[in-house]
Amino acid sequence: MAHHHHAPGHDEHRSGNAHGHDHEHLDWAELAPLLESQAELFTPLYEHALAWLAKEVTEPGLIVDAGSGPGVISGLFAETFPGARIVAVDGSEPLLERARARAGRLGAGDRFATLTGDMPGVLAELDYPADLLWASRSIHHLGDQGAALAACVERLAPGGTLAVMEGGLPSRFLPRDIGFGRPGLQARIGAVEEDWFSRMREELPGSVAQVEDWPALLTAAGLHHTRSRTFLLDLPAPVPDRARAYVVESLTRTRDMLGEYLDPDDRATLDRLVDPDDPASVHHRPDLFVLAAHTVHSGVRPV
Ligand SMILES: C[S@@+](CC[C@H](N)C(=O)[O-])C[C@H]1O[C@@H](n2cnc3c(N)ncnc32)[C@H](O)[C@@H]1O
Repeated sequence: MAHHHHAPGHDEHRSGNAHGHDHEHLDWAELAPLLESQAELFTPLYEHALAWLAKEVTEPGLIVDAGSGPGVISGLFAETFPGARIVAVDGSEPLLERARARAGRLGAGDRFATLTGDMPGVLAELDYPADLLWASRSIHHLGDQGAALAACVERLAPGGTLAVMEGGLPSRFLPRDIGFGRPGLQARIGAVEEDWFSRMREELPGSVAQVEDWPALLTAAGLHHTRSRTFLLDLPAPVPDRARAYVVESLTRTRDMLGEYLDPDDRATLDRLVDPDDPASVHHRPDLFVLAAHTVHSGVRPV
C-alpha cells in the first residue's frame, strides 16, 4: 500500500509543496532517484556504520531494514552479512521495487525480501524475529516515535539489536564566506530547516512531542547496552561529479521549498548558487565539499 503523508527529514532532499505553511506533503516514490543517488554517495559512511555494528552483531540470521527506501543500505547489509536474510520494509512499493532490483544485481536476490506497508503497524507482519533491525532516518517520519521504537523492539529476537540512524550534524558544502552575500548562509538555512522539521513532525498523523534523546528512548523501549556513534562522510574539494550533483540537487530543493523563509539577501545568494549560468554557482565552484555526520544509536533486547 502506498503511503501518501510523508515529508522528508532534516538534511534530506525536499520537494513538493513550495508553500508548506500547513501541509508538508511529499511523494516518496517521486524522490526515488534522489534517495538512491544520495544513499550511493553516502555509502562510505554507511559502510563504517555497518562495520561498527558487525563487531557486536555476529552472524545475524535475519536483518530488517525498516523504512529502507530504495534499499541501498539493505544491499550493503547483504554484502556485510553474507549469511543473513534481509527484509526491507517501506510504505512505498516503487522504492521497494528498486530495492529488489538492487539485491538481484548484487547476487543476493535469493536471500532478500520486501514488505510493503505503513510503519509501525506493518512490522507485525514480519514472519520471524529480527537479529538486527535497522531504521535510518525513518523513525522521525512516524507520529509517535516512542511507540514506533517499541514496535521495533517487539520484532527483535532476544539478544537482537536495534540500530536507528537519527540526528548528527547539519551537512556542510561551502566555506563560511563564499565571496558574495552574507557569510554563514548554511547555518541560517539550517535554522529554517529546523523549523520546517518541527512543522513536518507536528503535521504527522498521531504526532507526539518527544525529547529527542535517542539513547533514553531506546532504554524506555526496553533495550540494554545503548550506545551511540557518529559517522562522517568527508568528501573534500575537489569533489567528484556525483557529489557536485548531490549538492546542486540539495540546494535547489532548499531554495524551492524553504526559500520563502529566508531573508531576501540570502534568497538572492541561494539563487546565484544554484544558477548554472553563474560561474560562482555550485555547478562550477572549485571549493565545493561534502561534510556530513550521521549518528547511529543502538541497543540490545535482553535475552
Ligand atoms: C528519508 S527516507 C530514508 C531511506 C533510507 N533508510 C536511507 O536512510 O537512505 C525515509 C523512508 O521512510 C519511508 N517511510 C516514511 N514514513 C513511513 C511510514 N509511515 N511507513 C512506512 N514507511 C515510511 C519512506 O517511504 C522513505 O523510504
